[in-house]
Amino acid sequence: MTDKLIIFDTTLRDGEQSPGASMTRDEKLRIARQLERLKVDVIEAGFAASSNGDFECIQAIARTVKDSTVCSLARANDRDIARAAEALADSQNARIHLFIATSPLHMEKKLRMTPEEVFEQARLSTRFARNLRDDIEFSAEDGYRSDIDFLARVCEAVIKEGATTINIPDTVGYGIPELYGNFIKTLREKVPDSDKAVWSVHCHNDLGMAVANSLAGVKVGGARQVECTINGLGERAGNCSLEEVVMAVKTRKDYFGLQVGIDTTQILAASKLVSSTTGFVVQPNKAVVGANAFAHASGIHQDGVLKARDTYEIMRAEDVGWSANKIVLGKLSGRNAFKQRLQELGVELESEAETLAAFSRFKELADRKSEIFDEDILALVSSGVGLA
Ligand code: KIV
Ligand code: ZN
Repeated sequence: MTDKLIIFDTTLRDGEQSPGASMTRDEKLRIARQLERLKVDVIEAGFAASSNGDFECIQAIARTVKDSTVCSLARANDRDIARAAEALADSQNARIHLFIATSPLHMEKKLRMTPEEVFEQARLSTRFARNLRDDIEFSAEDGYRSDIDFLARVCEAVIKEGATTINIPDTVGYGIPELYGNFIKTLREKVPDSDKAVWSVHCHNDLGMAVANSLAGVKVGGARQVECTINGLGERAGNCSLEEVVMAVKTRKDYFGLQVGIDTTQILAASKLVSSTTGFVVQPNKAVVGANAFAHASGIHQDGVLKARDTYEIMRAEDVGWSANKIVLGKLSGRNAFKQRLQELGVELESEAETLAAFSRFKELADRKSEIFDEDILALVSSGVGLA
């Protein structure tokens, strides 16, 4: 089994399904270019048959992006698949991603089809897609709530018809890491020739476990593609977050033993671009890309990171695009952090006694003000001391 983990970004398709997150063609193109700079392996650019606008977005992205595979979603029917192929026609590296639901609930209530009808439709539409392009992904929608033996039959059939990636979504975010990971593992074991396809996970975040479930699908299940979005954007509570899954695999390479091709220094720019484009604000304590992800406020932590950053940092802020970590001066800060900030501001105090006096004025101010800015410090020391 390969040690490369494929990163499939679906910000422009599943992410856009987030209510209020719809994007214009130009906005999508800008994000697609940033995803290419980020070096994601696959960009799901949209759902060609869903509207003429989406078709045009996919076409424009397929004509622009060269270094990532560009993908369109399609329902498992000839019309949708042909439309996806048409939108992708100008791309060298294109993927058609077709899907049909396989859970009893979805088949009976939503599709109103019998399992045998779904089986046949999955098989024949994969064949149809494979006649149009070589890179074909098949998704079993609501796969995790499907009967595993039926799902295994469907997967076996679509692999025989030439599907190159098999994706098992946890469409409604129902999974628990251990259970989802084992589901993928058992499913792969049940499918003859399972190693002819790359196995993929696609987890929604309804119970806040999309990243954990995806990582279990990789580690326990043996999946080698993760579907994710920037900032975890997506339907309802969102999708697996790209920045979290990538940094988990990189930071804990000792555990996962996998390579990802992402240029992590582009992560923050991607996060800011998606946030400003969609108007979805990133919460300050969001892992990796939140404003506080590399900020230290407590005196003990500030003292620790000033002595050795890895005392309280497991990744480098600079590695994901921040210019530096951040020492937030406030009432919990200690003398070391205060002195360090004076130094950064070019302030030289003449004696230790002066420094202590300035520090005590700083503490008084910090009791009244939740965050102390550089301007506050300059004002505080400017009475009677020289600036270097
Ligand atoms: O969540 C899901 O099941 C999907 C599929 C269409 C891939 O987004
Ligand atoms: Zn989804």
